[in-house]
Amino acid sequence: MYIGAFMPVMQTMFQTELLATLPKDNNWKTVKIYHILFHLVCKSAARSLLGEAAAENPRWLRVQTDYIGTAISYIQALKKWPKSFRPFVYRYVEGYSTLRKQWNEGRAIVADFLAKKKANNWEPLQQPPSFFDIVASTNRDMSVDEHLSLQITFFVAGVHTSAATSTQALFDAAVNADCISQVRKEIQQLHASCGGVIERQHLSQLPKLDSFIKEVLRFSSPDLATFVRKSSQDVTLSNGFHIPSGTTLEVATGAIAMDPEVFDDPKVFDALRFWKKRQVENESVKHQFTSVSPRDLEWGYGRHACPGRYMAEVTIKLIMIQILLRFELKNPEGIARHESFNFDGQTMPNTEAEILIRDINA
Ligand code: HEM
Repeated sequence: MYIGAFMPVMQTMFQTELLATLPKDNNWKTVKIYHILFHLVCKSAARSLLGEAAAENPRWLRVQTDYIGTAISYIQALKKWPKSFRPFVYRYVEGYSTLRKQWNEGRAIVADFLAKKKANNWEPLQQPPSFFDIVASTNRDMSVDEHLSLQITFFVAGVHTSAATSTQALFDAAVNADCISQVRKEIQQLHASCGGVIERQHLSQLPKLDSFIKEVLRFSSPDLATFVRKSSQDVTLSNGFHIPSGTTLEVATGAIAMDPEVFDDPKVFDALRFWKKRQVENESVKHQFTSVSPRDLEWGYGRHACPGRYMAEVTIKLIMIQILLRFELKNPEGIARHESFNFDGQTMPNTEAEILIRDINA
């Protein structure tokens, strides 16, 4: 999927939705930003993953957002049963019928897309083609269930993480006015020089924005640990550390991100931390938001490092661009940076927290 081709679609969608939902006057208004961003990220993911009609279909958006919650509760309930009982009791465990209902609802929508695709002689149903368009054309024997499963996997992996990270970015922006004014200036200059049409290659001309969101991810990554793997054989590392076959491993990336041996003053939010690193000779292409290396672990590492990170980059940067071009943000008087919730190795922003926003162009 060529991500650059989606940028005009996403820019128009973000601009229209944000202008419709955010305050239109010069007085400060409180906004629960997570809910607005979550809806926006859902819509753009539905457009790029399945298609235009899916992005405008509230039933599809509801199935996609609800399914994961139902699945987690159901699995937790099923796990209370001993393993040997599960094949017999799984149908009677609480949540099973809701899960089936949601799956069937999603199935009907995907079946409709697949029928249209066949009728269209496997040609794309829209331009730019969606992920579904490309997968269906190249794998014509894939079943509706296989398509639905792929859609749900990418949706779950991409939407909650991108919505959480853009919310965290706005929470940080609301309490870091000085650095945000530098980021805004950089965006304004680019916006003027490209006539308001921001294409993929322009994103590399926003190194301060890139540094800011990388610092946001260092502080508030959705995952406290990444690189979850299971060893398929005995392994002895070069330092003698032995990993027996069958061991589940994960890397404590949240702790590494706060390690003073890895980052100077790790507890200080320094929006330009990575921008400064890139000013050093031979370092200019390192330390980027989407970089993956032993020192950049927020996307995991190796063959299974997040394949969606370029989509996440475009989504989060376009949201920041649209908001910073038009709006000013701050926290309500006396309120410090909104805290996150940590649970089950994950981090979530406070979805009910409010920030103050005003339209600077009104
Ligand atoms: C801020 C947003 C995101 C973060 C922080 C994030 C983070 C991660 C991490 C840590 C992994 C595990 C990598 C590993 O085990 O080495 C992962 C895997 C994955 N991510 Fe993302 N992700 C984000 C957005 C997305 C998006 C937008 C998509 C798709 C549209 C996506 C699709 C996937 C998939 C399919 C995998 C599994 C890859 C595999 O097992 O080979 N992610 N992501």
